[in-house]
Amino acid sequence: MAESMKGLKRTHRCTEVSSANIGQQVTVMGWVQRRRNLGSLIFVDLRDRSGLLQIVFDEPKVGAEGFAKAETLRNEFVIAVTGTIEKRTAAVNENLKTGDIEVIARELRILSESETPPFPIEENSQTKEDVRLRYRYLDLRRPDLQRNLMMKSRVSMLLRKFMEQEGFLEVETPMLTKSTPEGARDYLVPSRVHPGSFYALPQSPQLFKQLLMCSGYDRYFQIARCFRDEDLRADRQPEFTQADMELSFVDVDDVIEVNERLLQYVFKEAIGVDISLPIPRMTWQEAMDRYGSDKPDTRFGMELTDVSKVVAGCGFGVFTGALENGGSVRGINAKGQGDMPRKKIDKLVEFAKGYGAKGLAYLSVNADGTYKSSFAKFMSEEQLSALVAAMGGEPGDLLLFAADKNKVVWDVLGALRLELARELGLMDKNQYSFLWVTEFPLLEWSEEENRFMAMHHPFTMPMEEDWDKIDTDPGAVRAKAYDIVLNGTELGGGSVRIHQDHIQEKMLEVLGFTKERAYEQFGFLLNAFKYGVPPHAGLAYGLDRMVMLMVQADSIRDVIAFPKVKDASCLMTDAPNVVSEAQLAELSLAIAKNDEKREENTEG
Ligand code: AMO
Ligand code: AMP
Repeated sequence: MAESMKGLKRTHRCTEVSSANIGQQVTVMGWVQRRRNLGSLIFVDLRDRSGLLQIVFDEPKVGAEGFAKAETLRNEFVIAVTGTIEKRTAAVNENLKTGDIEVIARELRILSESETPPFPIEENSQTKEDVRLRYRYLDLRRPDLQRNLMMKSRVSMLLRKFMEQEGFLEVETPMLTKSTPEGARDYLVPSRVHPGSFYALPQSPQLFKQLLMCSGYDRYFQIARCFRDEDLRADRQPEFTQADMELSFVDVDDVIEVNERLLQYVFKEAIGVDISLPIPRMTWQEAMDRYGSDKPDTRFGMELTDVSKVVAGCGFGVFTGALENGGSVRGINAKGQGDMPRKKIDKLVEFAKGYGAKGLAYLSVNADGTYKSSFAKFMSEEQLSALVAAMGGEPGDLLLFAADKNKVVWDVLGALRLELARELGLMDKNQYSFLWVTEFPLLEWSEEENRFMAMHHPFTMPMEEDWDKIDTDPGAVRAKAYDIVLNGTELGGGSVRIHQDHIQEKMLEVLGFTKERAYEQFGFLLNAFKYGVPPHAGLAYGLDRMVMLMVQADSIRDVIAFPKVKDASCLMTDAPNVVSEAQLAELSLAIAKNDEKREENTEG
């Protein structure tokens, strides 16, 4: 029977006591992790969010009634124990923070009983994730998840502390708003009062933070929830949290400077990692050329080499064909992998095809200086040795080449480089390799839409030195945009914003907006800019991603209390769900396709 805690007050969390408390009376409360009966003694590991503490029930001390009650304890019962801290009589447990002490119980209360949980509440659970997500409230009892969420809380606190010290104001921006053009699909919320009209949940506070600059708030920040209806991955959730900021009267270097100090402070205080400043910077072009990625993992080398010039005019049609089509031929050198079995190489070829490659050409340098290769027969000895030399190839190396349009070559080799590094164990989880990627292209050609799209968003400032190319060669215009990358993950990104009418108008024109449509979509911003707008810039971190990297979790789900799964549903609440006809009618909505599931669910 569940008892009340009347007259009891918790004095400590489980691991807030130590050998310094020996002889003191304490009251601790928590969950039963484990009970062991040793004849006249009953041992219970008591768990709360701080950790474990051993409780000993000894009949003469706890009384016959208390002892009988202790015998009924099962895993996950919630109990309160009052007793004395003593030095452990049995062996000290080195793995426990409280391993040298125990509580000799004088009183036990069972505050709540528990059914047998569907899976053991333990560190490094082997239970399938979908089962754990269905019972997320139990999963969240596990120490690893508790540590992750405690870390997230701490990081938010540190961010707020830093921002406050630097003169940033935290301002809330609306959740029910108008679509923000960040490029993902919006989540829409129907309006009851305005039939047929919808709010959009914000993809980011972008436009509002720019308006706050217009309103003179100078330095804004917010820990803001964002919503994006996009395909989920290990580091992507449909709702996630940004640590978002905007600053007035600044340029790129000012934003980078304050953010470097922010990162240094937060990583040191949260996980004791020293970041030496300045953080290295690399232009987008250099990142693509060297790593085939705009978020390179710089913990290891295996960089790309452009061999287009070396293979120009060679006899291998795959290479020369790609060059004739305006593409390039590039390679990576998997050092010491020359004896990779054919089967494994074939797997790499399939992997490359998954990234759009038509094939993957390979050449391994044998110990005797001869080659094993998929294309050697198309090339002369001289051509081959020039190619191997360009790649820094030595006996025992495996050289892999992709030939195609630049974008395909970068995608393929960038992904292959990461895949090989994973296989070869080149990624050190304890190394934190930060990098600023700067000078992103302003625009990106969309094959789907057959027009240029903003690479960051339509309010990003072009670089002055490129602006004259906006009509003749828009793809070559670089932007004052920057990303902060950590170990191959995009931790955050931002840009200097356009604050001059004529640049903004031109930009919208290039993006294919008519004046009417631009005003319809974000007229409030364009109008605000007519009344005195300071030059401004900003950046947003993915807070979940930041914590994920700090706690070295494999998935963003491990740092979000109640995450969604791949199809954006929540296994615990079953959201999204069908709603009643009455609710729909109130919103003036009708479902176009009345599928069976819906009829089933709305019956009764
Ligand atoms: P951006 O779109 O680059 O910029 O987003 C900023 C950061 O947010 C994180 N992020 C995500 N995290 C988890 N799940 C997602 N679906 C997801 N999408 C993005 C990433 C990313 O770097 N308004 C601009 C910022 C600015 O210009 O100031 C913006 O939102 O870590
Ligand atoms: P093929 O002549 O199509 O049999 O290709 C000869 C070799 O070139 C094979 O190893 C292919 O995997 C490889 N290959 C084909 N297309 C490409 C490409 N676009 N880039 C690099 N290698 C390729």
